[in-house]
Amino acid sequence: MPKRIALCITGASGAVYAYRFLQETSRSNDVETHLVISNAGAIVIKQELGINASEVQRLASFSYDEKNFMAPIASGSFRLDGAMVAPCSMKTLSGIAHDYEDNLIIRCASIALKEKWRLVLMPRETPLSTIQIKNMLEVSKAGATVLPPMPQFYFKPKDVGEMVDMMVGKMLSIFDIDSRLTHEWGADKLALKEFEPSGATY
Ligand SMILES: Cc1cc2nc3c(=O)[nH]c(=O)nc-3n(C[C@H](O)[C@H](O)[C@H](O)COP(=O)(O)O)c2cc1C
Repeated sequence: MPKRIALCITGASGAVYAYRFLQETSRSNDVETHLVISNAGAIVIKQELGINASEVQRLASFSYDEKNFMAPIASGSFRLDGAMVAPCSMKTLSGIAHDYEDNLIIRCASIALKEKWRLVLMPRETPLSTIQIKNMLEVSKAGATVLPPMPQFYFKPKDVGEMVDMMVGKMLSIFDIDSRLTHEWGADKLALKEFEPSGATY
């Protein structure tokens, strides 16, 4: 049985993270993706990626309109391995934090929280207001993983594409999906036996 993941794209900057996530998972028979793109998300996809939302939808196993409350992912009886909102706008973050389920994205995130499934939110805004920080605290207390797209410069990415892919590797690893994009600090040195076999010598 493939891993079932709901991926919701909202109108925050960073559509590329979701697009790359879908490109990676669409190659695998082990992952089934259920995609919702908000209306604002479609606008940002066009602005940032220069493509129509339909091109992103093509990469998903299943795709639903943001107002389609008849979709399987609108019910907790349709079991998921997890849900992710990436990127997550401050509006949708607020909706999830306050359980204001006026679209399928917030409904799906709310279900993930009540069912205690993995829920990953990738909020994007800067700077952050106190209200936005409080909303992140609320969703974190409720069980969500807050995953802001912050690059790991210590891995020395060569360009923006590599920075994006490192983040996508992180998104995949949170859902236990094996990927060549996942970086583990020190793994290369372990392979070269640069550390002592017993006792941590750094
Ligand atoms: C080009 C563009 C970039 C945007 N970037 C952000 C952003 O980074 N964060 C954010 O919270 N809203 C951003 N917005 C505003 C949201 O799209 C807007 O608040 C929208 O109502 C979000 O709706 P949704 O959560 O249903 O997608 C952006 C809008 C546009 C057009």
